[in-house]
Amino acid sequence: MEIRALGADERDTVRDNGARAFGPMPDEAWERSAEAARPTWEAGRWFAGFDGGGIVASGALHDMTQWWHGRAVSMAGVGGVTVAPEERGRGLGRRLMTDLLDRCAEFGHPLAMLYPATTRIYRSLGWEHAGAQHHIDLPAEALRTIAAERVPVRRAGPEDAAEVAAVIGRVHAQARDSGPVGWGEARWRGLLAQRDDYAYLAEDGFLSYRWAEGNTGLEVSRLVASSERTLRALWAIVGTGSSTAKTVRACVSPLDPVLWLPREREHEIVHRTQWMLRVVDAPAAIGTRGYPPGVTAGAPLLIDDPQRPANSGHWRLEIEGGEGRLEPSAGAGDPVRLGPRGLSALYAGVPVSTLRRSGLLQGGDAEALSPAFAATPFSLDYF
Ligand SMILES: CC(C)(COP(=O)(O)OP(=O)(O)OC[C@H]1O[C@@H](n2cnc3c(N)ncnc32)[C@H](O)[C@@H]1OP(=O)(O)O)[C@@H](O)C(=O)NCCC(=O)NCCS
Repeated sequence: MEIRALGADERDTVRDNGARAFGPMPDEAWERSAEAARPTWEAGRWFAGFDGGGIVASGALHDMTQWWHGRAVSMAGVGGVTVAPEERGRGLGRRLMTDLLDRCAEFGHPLAMLYPATTRIYRSLGWEHAGAQHHIDLPAEALRTIAAERVPVRRAGPEDAAEVAAVIGRVHAQARDSGPVGWGEARWRGLLAQRDDYAYLAEDGFLSYRWAEGNTGLEVSRLVASSERTLRALWAIVGTGSSTAKTVRACVSPLDPVLWLPREREHEIVHRTQWMLRVVDAPAAIGTRGYPPGVTAGAPLLIDDPQRPANSGHWRLEIEGGEGRLEPSAGAGDPVRLGPRGLSALYAGVPVSTLRRSGLLQGGDAEALSPAFAATPFSLDYF
């Protein structure tokens, strides 16, 4: 199998294998998703494996950032991974993912993220479960009764792409969020052009929602705000829909402040869609992430990463004053031993006690690393 980047004019060539992998898409939905992914196509980041002239595998590397404790780290969002049904089970998926991992490094992304439809193939290449996209069902009436004052809010369209990206970035930085992804201006232009998605922009917040459940419910795809005032005002706008929509399915962090606003909170229906993380370049990933400013931690690490040998070897990890450093070392004593799965899970805030008991981390004294990497990673985007 020979893998190469497809040109933007070749995008329809992956549609058939996509349909065979994920189900057919009506023309309008295909056009919409291809339009939203236009920056990926134009950047030559959609790849296909050819065998005997035809496409047997494909996958995309979206150019994104991901916030980790409020700092944006360059990240590749892996999507559209397919192998033709008649070619599955003979190692092509693994070869494609090995190739894409190398390309993540070539593009200079210290991190990569994906939503797995199956786990085994990704684990075998160093990926590990790290966070989730959460959808929580809320009664629209509970949102209607949120006390809110009026704040200046305006409808947002494609021409607001840069401002929307900047406002959302400031919210995640200020909240010291971990997990949400950042899109570039071009992708935002496409998202804000989607018909039937309604977007509102405030000075320090953003809301987008659409109708769902045959127009009997609303789905909030994103509502983020830095101040309580704006947060209340945007949720109150959603709540005004309670006369026609009984339920609101909201894509939010499990620690989103909206969950502390309604007067009543009882049984909750939460839908979790897991995502996996891969640390591609360990020193760069550690060096660009944010950390809690009051936490100091350090440990000798011994990393064994067969797919990314540059990550392998003895390192000294130091975290202090909100900054992290991973530097090569000669190795001494009893280092904390990790593979890429353990490293990726640690990076995402999985506590050391969990990592030890699941066999993802061994040796050394690693307890101080848990508070340094502590996070409840979430995502507001599916790709
Ligand atoms: C998932 C997919 C890409 C795997 O491609 P493939 O060429 O069959 O995979 P490989 O032959 O390289 O197998 C790699 C590993 O994944 C495992 N695997 C493959 N398909 C699997 C499945 N459906 N369930 C569980 N494990 C699976 C294989 O057993 C193998 O593990 P092993 O080496 O430990 O035995 C392919 O089945 C596919 O296109 N599926 C439909 C679309 C999809 O799910 N895409 C992934 C989106 S994240």
